[in-house]
Amino acid sequence: MGYDPANPMADRITDIGPPHYSKFHPPVVAKNKGKWLWHEITQPGVLVHKAESGDECWTVRVGAARLISTELIYEMCDIADAHCDGFLRFTTRNNVEFMVDDKAKVQPLLDDLASRGNKFPVGGTGAGVTNIVHTQGWVHCHTPATDASGVVKAVMDELFDYFTSMKLPAQVRIALACCLNMCGAVHASDIAILGVHRKPPMIDHSRITGVCELPLAISACPLGAVKPAKATVDGKEIKTVKVNNERCMFCGNCYTMCPAMPLADPDGDGIAILVGGKVSNARSAPKFSKLVIPFLPNTPPRWPETVAAVKNILETYAGDAKKYERIGEWAERIGWEKFFEKCNIPFTIKSVDDYRLAYDTWRTTTQFKYTNAIK
Ligand code: HEM
Ligand code: HEM
Ligand code: SF4
Ligand code: SF4
Repeated sequence: MGYDPANPMADRITDIGPPHYSKFHPPVVAKNKGKWLWHEITQPGVLVHKAESGDECWTVRVGAARLISTELIYEMCDIADAHCDGFLRFTTRNNVEFMVDDKAKVQPLLDDLASRGNKFPVGGTGAGVTNIVHTQGWVHCHTPATDASGVVKAVMDELFDYFTSMKLPAQVRIALACCLNMCGAVHASDIAILGVHRKPPMIDHSRITGVCELPLAISACPLGAVKPAKATVDGKEIKTVKVNNERCMFCGNCYTMCPAMPLADPDGDGIAILVGGKVSNARSAPKFSKLVIPFLPNTPPRWPETVAAVKNILETYAGDAKKYERIGEWAERIGWEKFFEKCNIPFTIKSVDDYRLAYDTWRTTTQFKYTNAIK
């Protein structure tokens, strides 16, 4: 029976979990699961996996915008129906993979994809730039300091050649988060684009008592900048909070807890760039990314300053790093003072940690290289 609003618990289905993934395995994957011998990248965007049985699974990886219409999903399904027995998959970076069980089926699939304009660019494998893990931005979230889809499109347009080729020293993961909740991967990516505020919250005393649990707003602040206070609204004394602006570093956590403390601002808000993070354990341990550019303005629709900054870091790295070296490994080997010098990025005090455990990030050695990057 259809949903009955008068009787919401009738025929309610719950706690059934996702369907089991094995229902969606292409036959060649179902048959050879757990018995793969080796794999190879035969060209950018195309992989082959060889199984013990001798079977081969050919995978074609295509870029996707992540935010997509049902029409585009239907079109992907049409492609999967035509070439892949109706099967396809999405990757952990929101690329799409079409799999076929015979080398002879690869070229017809590539031709079909190419015939659809630039909707399904093939690439994202090996030592290149793959898809940008990103967030909601101005499309859906209420706490962003920048947009996600817009910045990602602008950056991928500029770096498109790196998506369809494998000519970097190692893979470069770019991620974006539109506020420092950091939904996704910015804290552990080679290049991270992060939305930041630069002004403290405004306090709407007329609404705050009705919409906020004041102790939550107070305890949301990492710096103890929010204190209980009283204010007079329409001649009546009410409970509210006050913010010590000198202590506030504009994280926006208090707004997440309390809708009466908004801080988004068109001139104050913008983008910070972090670099050098990674999540794999290959060679070196996983790393957090580090702040190298504290602020770039929000300049929709193409964010030229951000695009140029990302491209500059990527290409300086590409020209200087050794094979297999991730951006963070390169920066640590040459020294961060040389990273700033080679990338021609002015070092600012904003990159000097001043939060609680900051001491360990300062230099407790006489080992350093002279550099012209610190003005
Ligand atoms: C108070 C903090 C947060 C708020 C207010 C928030 C809000 C949101 C909202 C509104 C959405 C969109 C939901 C939808 O489209 O239906 C979303 C999606 C998401 N959030 Fe958060 N979020 C928060 C923290 C986080 C954190 C800390 C993480 C990760 C550690 C995270 C990961 C995600 C992911 C993965 C998605 C789905 C993105 C996608 O559409 O692919 N969120 N969040
Ligand atoms: C055994 C468990 C896991 C496996 C096998 C795994 C595997 C992977 C792989 C292969 C990638 C790279 C995909 C690509 O770039 O094409 C990836 C990326 C990522 N994974 Fe996982 N993952 C695991 C658990 C987790 C967990 C628990 C988290 C979060 C708490 C996580 C968060 C991420 C993020 C943020 C990325 C993107 C970062 C980057 O590519 O640099 N993963 N994972
Ligand atoms: S990063 Fe911040 S602004 Fe962006 S989706 Fe997550 S919570 Fe919202
Ligand atoms: S924006 Fe962050 S630092 Fe500033 S008062 Fe709110 S919680 Fe504290």
